[in-house]
This record gives sequence, structure tokens and C-alpha cells, in this order.
Amino acid sequence: MEQPRAVRARRITKCFGEVVALDAIDLDVAPGQIHGLVGPNGAGKTTLLGLLLGLAVPDSGTLEILGAPVRRALDVPDGVSGFVDGPGLYPSLTARQNLAALARLRGRNPRSAGIDETLAQVGLTDVADDRAGGFSLGMRQRLGLAAALLTPPTLLVLDEPANGLDPAGSRHVHRVLTGLAAEGTSIVLSSHRMDDVEALCSEVTILATGRVVFSGPLGKLAAENRELDYRLRTSDPARTRAIASDSHGITVVEDNVVRGLVPAMDELVTRLVRENVAVRELTPVVSPLEAAFLSLTEDKR
Ligand SMILES: Nc1ncnc2c1ncn2[C@@H]1O[C@H](COP(=O)(O)OP(=O)(O)O)[C@@H](O)[C@H]1O
Ligand SMILES: [Mg+2]
Repeated sequence: MEQPRAVRARRITKCFGEVVALDAIDLDVAPGQIHGLVGPNGAGKTTLLGLLLGLAVPDSGTLEILGAPVRRALDVPDGVSGFVDGPGLYPSLTARQNLAALARLRGRNPRSAGIDETLAQVGLTDVADDRAGGFSLGMRQRLGLAAALLTPPTLLVLDEPANGLDPAGSRHVHRVLTGLAAEGTSIVLSSHRMDDVEALCSEVTILATGRVVFSGPLGKLAAENRELDYRLRTSDPARTRAIASDSHGITVVEDNVVRGLVPAMDELVTRLVRENVAVRELTPVVSPLEAAFLSLTEDKR
């Protein structure tokens, strides 16, 4: 039988008093997919992830998790784990004791719960017997991930898991998540930065003030035809400025920064070279994906 979708949400709405945190949201996550939920602060990411974890229920709309409809709080099927707003840990307990306490809460014998393996998986073996209270944000995030992995999940929900991770920690977590997805675990994770999810996610949903402004494969987002800002350095800045100001489809944003579509940029470069101005650098100020993200969310902040 075909596996059900990990998440199927239709027109989910969630309000806190006057605030519409989620406004008729659709979300689809296929088995084994790493789905990025991206948006500026206050966009509704944590609220949506909380619904996936069953911490609250939508005011309206339908939500199915692992094929089962969710109608009440704390009613999500087994196999869903993760955290929102930072992992809940006991600061006075060591990393190992935190996981042992959790295993016991879930009715398992800590000795056979695979605690050492899970600590190794997230790269915390060396600090297994240090108190969690002394951990950096990145280490706490990794311990939170270990807690979520103690019972191997079918759907893993992570709220801003990259927060506080250094580049090595971030690469490690990426490897763990990619490995899990390859084995069929579905993952939904949030970030307020596009570049964070670029390396990891095949599909993204971009939220801005409670609404979906884009959902689909990253390739589709990158291919959307929009004007980008480019840093342009040449052998003659004054003439470059004059020529750029006079070029169709080009806006001079500031010294050394011009905006336009790719064909207009091509024409500008050709013209500069024809007029004996050497082009030394032409690079997008932000990646095309980040630019798409910013333009989709900018006016809604
Ligand atoms: N428990 C709550 N009570 C009141 N307002 C809330 C609550 N949780 C979230 N909100 C509001 O809902 C909106 C979305 O918040 P949130 O989901 O935390 O966004 P994000 O995680 O994308 O930063 C914000 O305007 C926030 O202030
Ligand atoms: Mg949040």
C-alpha cells in the first residue's frame, strides 16, 4: 500500500485573540521529504509546527498527520516527535540523564533505549556527562534533536534547529537529517533564513504574516524571473554610473550596485566593454533564492 502523506493541511486557521497567526494555510509533506518552513519573525512558523506536534488544534480547516485526522490537542499519531520554541531540557541534569529521564517518561528502560547511540548520532558523546545547563545554544539544540530521535520518528518537527549552530555543528545536523530522510523519515523544519534551508530542503513553504506566499520545489522559486541587485566593479566607476543610468531596464541602486533582469545585465556588460570600461566583478548581492524570499516577504513585514 502507498504510504500516506506525512502532513496534509487544508485551509488551517489559527487566531490568538485579534491576531490571525495562520490564515487558511495548506501544507503537503510527502514521506521522506525535508520540507522547509521559512518566513520572518511572527510569520506563524512556530504556531504551525505546534499544530503538527498536536500541542494545539486549528480553529478551522483540516489536518491529517501520517494519514490520521487530528481533531483534538495531543491527538497526533505515534511516530511524531520534535520541539517548538527550543527543546525542553532539565538544566541540572547531564545530557545522558536528560535522555534517560525522557526514556522513562515514555515508559522505556533507559538502559535499553539506545541513549549512547543517540548521543553519538548528534555528536554529543564527549559532553554526555556534562550538565545541560552549561550547554551553548547549539549544544542544547543538538540535545533536543537527540531527544526527538530517541524513539525513531516517522515525522520529525524541528523549530529553527539551525539556531546557534556553528558551521561544523550545522554540517553535522544536516548529515543526520539527510540520513534520516533517506531512510524514509519526513522532516518539517523552520527557519527565518532562506540560505539555511537551501542546502537541506527539496521543497519550501514561505509564510508571511500567517499566509503562504510560495510553496513548491526550490528550483521553481529560483527560476522565477525577478530583478536582482548586483555588485558591479569596473575600471571606471564614474563612466559606469553614467552608462548604467542611461541603460534600459537598469536601476542604479547605489555606488557599485545595479538592479535589473539578466538580459538587461548582459546588455550593460556588453556596452561597458564596447566603451572600453573593463568589468572586474558582477555578482548578485544576495543569492537568487534569498532575493526571491525577501521580495515575497518584504512588503508584508
Ligand atoms: N500563545 C500566543 N498568544 C498570543 N499570540 C501569539 C501566541 N503565539 C503566537 N502568537 C502570535 O502569532 C503570530 C505568529 O507567531 P509565531 O508562530 O511564533 O511566528 P514565528 O514562529 O514565525 O516567528 C505572532 O503575531 C505572534 O505574536
Ligand atoms: Mg518561531
